[in-house]
Amino acid sequence: MSSALRREYLAALGLETWVVRGKPPVARETAPRDMPAPRDMPAPRDMPAPRDPGAAGDASPGREAGVDWPDLRARVAACTRCALCNTRTQTVFGVGNQTADWLIVGEAPGAEEDRQGEPFVGRAGQLLNSMLRAIGLAREQVYIANVLKCRPPGNRDPSAGEAAECLPYLEQQIALLKPKIMLAVGRVASQNLLRTEVTLGRLRQQVHRFGRSQVPLVVTYHPAYLLRTPADKRKAWEDLKFAREVCARV
Ligand code: URA
Repeated sequence: MSSALRREYLAALGLETWVVRGKPPVARETAPRDMPAPRDMPAPRDMPAPRDPGAAGDASPGREAGVDWPDLRARVAACTRCALCNTRTQTVFGVGNQTADWLIVGEAPGAEEDRQGEPFVGRAGQLLNSMLRAIGLAREQVYIANVLKCRPPGNRDPSAGEAAECLPYLEQQIALLKPKIMLAVGRVASQNLLRTEVTLGRLRQQVHRFGRSQVPLVVTYHPAYLLRTPADKRKAWEDLKFAREVCARV
């Protein structure tokens, strides 16, 4: 990506280009002024115990071997495992490159996603696209999914039961995709994936691991939160660069 284009995406994130006064512009490094000194990737902390994809019970979609993408999509579309099937317009399976290195995981579809059947298509989705572009990734290059495949009415947080019923679908998507890195966006997605109540602020800037295959998982802010709290976009930028560094080391 050209530096001009990257500057454009960083501007969309509300981040300035870092230019040292009195010296020629640095060829590439665009960074928030308060960026911490580079440091080694920390050792995994707060690492959850490996999850058993089959732990949800016999009917769990994660137990079924040999499921392919079309099978899984059809199963999700027909799902009645929780009451959200009564209020959804349609399920929101996930979108993107089925050979992607990056899996982005959000919380649940909102109103627009429920209408269109695709994750992150509203304002938060536009910001997510800009965040990805800022680290050189097109939306089409990654895979995007949610913890829940159905919209909770009124955009309330997913209940523990809904997340437990739905997570096996995401686990099956991960088994098919085999991503190099997972980026969990927002507190709800992060806490559900990591089975923790630790705050998002404490989960950031660490390499967690997910599932049997121990996929590296990095946490950052939800784009909808960043729309409300633009001051934290700098921290999100640090998280994205951290995740890119982790991915490069896999
Ligand atoms: N927020 C999410 O977490 N996921 C979406 O798909 C849309 C908004």
